[in-house]
Amino acid sequence: MARKIIIDTDPGQDDAVAILLALASPEIEVLGVVAVAGNVPLELTAKNARIVCELAGKPDTKVFAGCDRPLRQPLVTAEHVHGKTGLDGPQMPDPTMPMQDQHGVSFIVETLRAEPADSVTLCALGPLTNIATAFETAPDIVEKVQEIVLMGGAYFEVGNITPAAEFNIYVDPEAAEIVFRSGRPITVMPLDVTHKALTTAPRVEAFRGLGTKVGTMVAEWTDFFERFDKEKYGSAGAPLHDPCVIAYLIRPDLFSGRHINVEIETGSNLTRGMTVADWWRVTDRPANATFMGDVDADGFFSLLTERLATL
Ligand code: RIB
Ligand code: CA
Repeated sequence: MARKIIIDTDPGQDDAVAILLALASPEIEVLGVVAVAGNVPLELTAKNARIVCELAGKPDTKVFAGCDRPLRQPLVTAEHVHGKTGLDGPQMPDPTMPMQDQHGVSFIVETLRAEPADSVTLCALGPLTNIATAFETAPDIVEKVQEIVLMGGAYFEVGNITPAAEFNIYVDPEAAEIVFRSGRPITVMPLDVTHKALTTAPRVEAFRGLGTKVGTMVAEWTDFFERFDKEKYGSAGAPLHDPCVIAYLIRPDLFSGRHINVEIETGSNLTRGMTVADWWRVTDRPANATFMGDVDADGFFSLLTERLATL
């Protein structure tokens, strides 16, 4: 029985690879893809989500537009990383598949209401605005969520958009606070783990070497996307953040972490969006998340490359 998921996303080259991995994996049933404002404004993330579904050969995937701005904060975008379109790198044709008319948040609410308890996994690859809005407007759906698996936050790696905060959490810290207090099982892929999943040259050449449109597109997205992180961190490649969320659903054994307390800074401008992770358990705050710290990077890239080859 395939695992039912809803992907909430702000494509973003790494989001795009995560969506491709999900659509290529028989263990997963994608109930819908909901775009959120994040890396680039909502109209672009919603367009990019459709581009990716068409690239995967899955134009019947239901794609929705969700919230166009965070709950309280002004929108902060990341064109400096992802380019003006959010999918810079290769030339991309405009999508022809339709956008669903229904608002993405009401899709999340309606879908969860129709499913049994503990049956749908929410995979959050961007700011948590849509999920928090759904939980706030329809608290009855929270029990329907089997698990929330999200890319966001950091502890040892600290911040990538400010000295203290990772981008997804920073953009909408109030939304993150609602999600982390929801009481549902949460699995976090923070920078601590994604920075161990680097797009080194051999790994990018393995994508290109697939000799398929998907392989070539992923390699060209990576060529563009990695320049920011390689320059900033002097690393051998860029962290391939969001596909860690989907890879975890397929091969959780690739990842390791701790079940700890994670709180979100929402009061201070200096540390807004910081995930205050009690990794060393120095407080008696109750554990509310499995916070990943390590990944078998070779295993991750092998899984990813093997699945992309099927598209
Ligand atoms: O900080 C990395 C995260 O922010 C990734 O999800 C990337 O796509 C951006 O949304
Ligand atoms: Ca993202």
